[in-house]
Amino acid sequence: MRLQNKVAIVTGGGAGMGLAVSLAYAREGAAVVVAEINRANGESAVQAIWDAGGQAIFTPTDVADSKQVAGAVDAAVDAFGGVDILYANAAVQLVGQDARAHELSEEAWDRTHRINIRGVWLCAKYVIPAMLDRGGGSIVNVASPTGLLGCAPGFTAYSSAKGAVYGLTRVMAADYARDKIRVNALIPGATETPLTRELFADDETRNGLIAATPLGRLGQAEDVVGLAVFLASDESAYCTGGFFPVDGGLTAI
Ligand SMILES: NC(=O)c1ccc[n+]([C@@H]2O[C@H](COP(=O)([O-])OP(=O)(O)OC[C@H]3O[C@@H](n4cnc5c(N)ncnc54)[C@H](O)[C@@H]3O)[C@@H](O)[C@H]2O)c1
Repeated sequence: MRLQNKVAIVTGGGAGMGLAVSLAYAREGAAVVVAEINRANGESAVQAIWDAGGQAIFTPTDVADSKQVAGAVDAAVDAFGGVDILYANAAVQLVGQDARAHELSEEAWDRTHRINIRGVWLCAKYVIPAMLDRGGGSIVNVASPTGLLGCAPGFTAYSSAKGAVYGLTRVMAADYARDKIRVNALIPGATETPLTRELFADDETRNGLIAATPLGRLGQAEDVVGLAVFLASDESAYCTGGFFPVDGGLTAI
């Protein structure tokens, strides 16, 4: 029970890695707020947590909508008395629309950036006052290898938004360290989830990613759980402003 008495908001907690992390945080004793745009998936994540004896609520949330983000934080405070952990995970990758810079539409750029970076900032903006009230907290922003390296050719909007997650993580780490709010970035590798289903259905892409990953396999949603719990918990009390890969070695080469 490494997160006992903690309250965690997990954005995009209804599917993929966010679902695995919601379940893991609850297993570790946290009360979990599943802030998710997909109602059916959000509700079923909460049901799974209840069935396993944990505590959770679902808040219908589009992270790009400030009213809904503020509502998710209010719901966490009303239901559980505060917020200690933000796992800022919700993102989209617009396969078929994201493209090389000169081929990319303004709409695809704007939609990706509204969710993948503005949404991460909005969640921090509304969560931080609750963390200040609590005397500290841990924010884990989910980044991507492609914000560090050019390893997703043709994904200009996604890569640039994820790159900005690193900058946001560092500036917030510096700004809130004395308030005992830690801010770190978790970097998943090529991981099999609903997000990548279409992309990885292409054998060339799939085999290329496996070949590029030193550990020789794609990640599974469960692979991020250990690091996600560590960064949320007091075990990482001296970690802030860090970028932590859980990527099978993808960014080591
Ligand atoms: N899967 C990978 O290979 C991979 C690699 C690197 C980084 N990532 C990052 O990891 C994170 C999780 O990815 P995943 O693969 O589990 O994705 P996923 O698509 O499987 O799950 C994302 C979840 O976020 C929700 N969501 C989407 N838009 C939202 C919004 N506007 N507001 C609230 N919720 C929203 C979706 O409904 C879904 O439940 C993302 O930040 C992604 O960019 C994924």
